[in-house]
Amino acid sequence: MTYEILKTEEADAVLTVTMDRPKAMNALNTRFFQEMDDLVASVGARSDLRALVLTGAGKAFVAGADIAEMVGMDSEAGSKFSAMGQKTFRGLEECPLPVIAAVNGYVLGGGCELAMSCDFRVASTAAKFGQPEVNLGLTPGYAGTQRLARLVGAGNALFLLLTGEMISAEEALRMGLVQKVVPPESLMPEALGLAKKIASKGPKAVRAVKRLVRQGLLTSFDAGCALESMEFGALFGDEGAEGMKAFLEKRPAKWN
Ligand code: CAA
Repeated sequence: MTYEILKTEEADAVLTVTMDRPKAMNALNTRFFQEMDDLVASVGARSDLRALVLTGAGKAFVAGADIAEMVGMDSEAGSKFSAMGQKTFRGLEECPLPVIAAVNGYVLGGGCELAMSCDFRVASTAAKFGQPEVNLGLTPGYAGTQRLARLVGAGNALFLLLTGEMISAEEALRMGLVQKVVPPESLMPEALGLAKKIASKGPKAVRAVKRLVRQGLLTSFDAGCALESMEFGALFGDEGAEGMKAFLEKRPAKWN
């Protein structure tokens, strides 16, 4: 598929994906979801890639779902538009590779929901976070009511969702919505540096860690622990054997 909105760049086993429709503040339309589905399916099948960094061109990461596309919809079309976004974001969350959101600017509504579907978030001091759907007489539609409460707790989530207020990157950091805040010029170096750091680790262990945390959040503590023991054991006789041997031999590990 040829992409119109997503621009990709690959270096050192890290794929950088830039959402590039700045005239509409990178608002999420049907075309975006088609491209993102295609991208997630294609990167998931590649064992040579180790991490993905997602960012936005211009003043926004993403300023929400595309209001111009939604305005003419009836209830049925609205529900379908929501289900489409939820499916894409779930796919991104389940992408075998770690996904880092490099949040460059406005990250509102569906944009914040997209950032929350990434594995963690690094933000520029220029970023502004919010769930302004109530201003439009809407609720979030891409699982924002669910992911936000799980990430920052019900009180912080309801504060953002009910007031529609925009908060700074520093405030988002205090809430636990982002993991790191850096000046705008340091955003991509920081996100790419973290991606490269992940890329240097045991690739099977990295993918297993992501699977365990993601699946663990959807299941019970005991079921998550049972999965962990399985994945832990599976790495012995695999790259774990090399990693431990390399440590004892005081040399860098050679991953396959
Ligand atoms: N959808 C469609 N177009 C959007 C958009 C969106 N979510 N956000 C911005 N745009 C467009 C504007 O309409 C404008 O287009 P024109 O130049 O053709 O008029 C262009 O982007 C630039 O926007 P502004 O002129 O408004 O720029 P600004 O710098 O003054 O303000 C902003 C920036 C604060 C992000 C403001 O654009 C804004 O408030 N955007 C809407 C944010 C929003 O409500 N998001 C939630 C959407 S609903 C949703 O996401 C539901 C869901 O969960 C599924």
